[in-house]
Amino acid sequence: MANILDGKAIAEKVRAEVRADVAGFTSAHGRAPGLTVVLVGEDPASVVYTRNKERSAKECGIAGTLIRLPAETPEAEVLALVERLNRDDAVDGILVQLPLPKQVREAEVLRAIDPDKDVDGFHALNAGRLATGHPALVPCTPLGCMRLIAESGVELAGARAVVVGRSNIVGKPIAQLLLAKHATVTIAHSRTRDLPAVCREADVLVAAVGRANLVRGDWIKPGAVVIDVGINRGADGKLVGDVAFAEAAERAGHLTPVPGGVGPMTIACLLANTVTAARAREAAKRRA
Ligand code: GUN
Repeated sequence: MANILDGKAIAEKVRAEVRADVAGFTSAHGRAPGLTVVLVGEDPASVVYTRNKERSAKECGIAGTLIRLPAETPEAEVLALVERLNRDDAVDGILVQLPLPKQVREAEVLRAIDPDKDVDGFHALNAGRLATGHPALVPCTPLGCMRLIAESGVELAGARAVVVGRSNIVGKPIAQLLLAKHATVTIAHSRTRDLPAVCREADVLVAAVGRANLVRGDWIKPGAVVIDVGINRGADGKLVGDVAFAEAAERAGHLTPVPGGVGPMTIACLLANTVTAARAREAAKRRA
């Protein structure tokens, strides 16, 4: 039976590290790291997520702020708010919750965020920095996956890693992070021929496609580390991942559950990114 990688417990360890880092930063610089979350509209899931982000930030000693704008806010007003936050020296991290209402173009808003405050790591400059091996703010879910993989103890150098899914916010950045750790990385996707055979090569398998129970037990190399990023509603309304959990548990060496695996890691990594951004901004001020 696979070792189950407990995302709740590991996320709590990350939060404890963040709390200590925040305390150190605050005493060194006379101010707490600042995170501002922007929510445009009333999407019920987004309301819950953004409240959790603000609350979790405060629990770690970060100056967390949630700014809510009405659903009909014009794009120019959202961009003006982002510009104001870019200029606000007390703000180290800016997160604009997605999806945005239809009159607000996501690409324009993400491009407007100062890349050095882009704690989501969604700005093209951060994607480019990551791809070229420069210090970058890295998207939170991929960072959480890497921490879970690290907790498994697997040696990544020389290992075969397969990432199923090629999104800009999960698949591509995870592939870059695995490559930076010297894994041999394959990015598979919906057009991949013989996906089960490709997955069977994987010492580390990351499933990030959003299809319930896509990855079957016999797709998994015995002993592999399996990270399930999917969050899907099963036919019975329960949350299920992209990996058929019970089958996978028979073959994998380490496996993340859904819920309770990757999910809890994401906010913890957002808080860690806020500290990373705050430190980098203070270091840049010292150099200036
Ligand atoms: N909506 C759902 N997940 C996310 C996320 O990680 N960041 C942002 N900005 N919006 C989201």
